Amino acid sequence: MLKKESARFIKSFWNDSNPPGMTEGQINSGRGTECPKPVLPKSRRWLIGSIFSGALASTVGAWYTKYFEPYNLEITHKKIGLCFRSPIASGLKFLHISDLHASGEVPYAYLSSAIDMAIDTQPDLIFATGDFITWRVEDSDQYRKLLNKLTACCPVYACLGNHDGGSWASRHDGYDSTHAIKSLLNSAGIKVLENESEIVTVRQQSIEIAGVGDLWAKDLRPELVLPRMEGDLGKNWERPLFLLAHNPDSKIPLYEYDWDLMLSGHTHGGQLVIPFLDYRPFAPVFDKSHIEGLRQWEGRRWMHITRGIGNRHGVRFNCRPEISLLET
Ligand SMILES: [Fe+2]
Repeated sequence: MLKKESARFIKSFWNDSNPPGMTEGQINSGRGTECPKPVLPKSRRWLIGSIFSGALASTVGAWYTKYFEPYNLEITHKKIGLCFRSPIASGLKFLHISDLHASGEVPYAYLSSAIDMAIDTQPDLIFATGDFITWRVEDSDQYRKLLNKLTACCPVYACLGNHDGGSWASRHDGYDSTHAIKSLLNSAGIKVLENESEIVTVRQQSIEIAGVGDLWAKDLRPELVLPRMEGDLGKNWERPLFLLAHNPDSKIPLYEYDWDLMLSGHTHGGQLVIPFLDYRPFAPVFDKSHIEGLRQWEGRRWMHITRGIGNRHGVRFNCRPEISLLET
């Protein structure tokens, strides 16, 4: 019985005809002349090859997306000297980091090596634009020690993101206020600007740093920290102004206000970018034309959006994590 079944299978798998030199009776009886080597028709070989190649590519791609690219951090360099209406000294280095997303998917060991890479660039100032955690702080002492490495390098200024507490986070198992994260950051020496500003001097260059609350958390209160726009070009600032706003879509409610260069994160660059098409289907922003990089907006205003250090859901594809060094 088994012999008959296997013979039928062999027959159907070959050319849908008997093998050369064998009759159907010889196949069924298992006897006959010497059995020739089976040759698959081209269409079936192509099909099997395609299935095998597809399965292999999917496995390698999934491994790369989960275990390699989320930790394949790069440092990018951009020139920002022309982004301000008032003069700024050349040779200054500002580090822009964002979206550390400390969590089970973004472990402290990875964040520690990322911070080591960041401080190796020897910046004059560090700007961090929110989402320090994904949902909750796990081991606040360890996180504080990591963040202390940044503040031991140079002054660090931060704004908060939607994951750092508030109305959006409370609806998604996060903190219902920003108190816990602000306390952690303050204890590490990081200055949090929540609808506040501060003037600092860096190597004899005076600059102003303004920070606003998060858009999705409904904490964005620009009227507390920025002047309204006067005319199409705004006024000339006395000194360069950096505006920290986690979500790049904040530019829409900030349209009426006067600013030069806004630093944002939030998008993670889209995390998954379709090669050749530059299509980023999961970027969580309304304006898909501003997902990463240094871009001019509405004439004379500028935005820099960094892809961030961490991620959500532990995956990245064609979108490496980023530390951005902005140089004048
Ligand atoms: Fe984020």
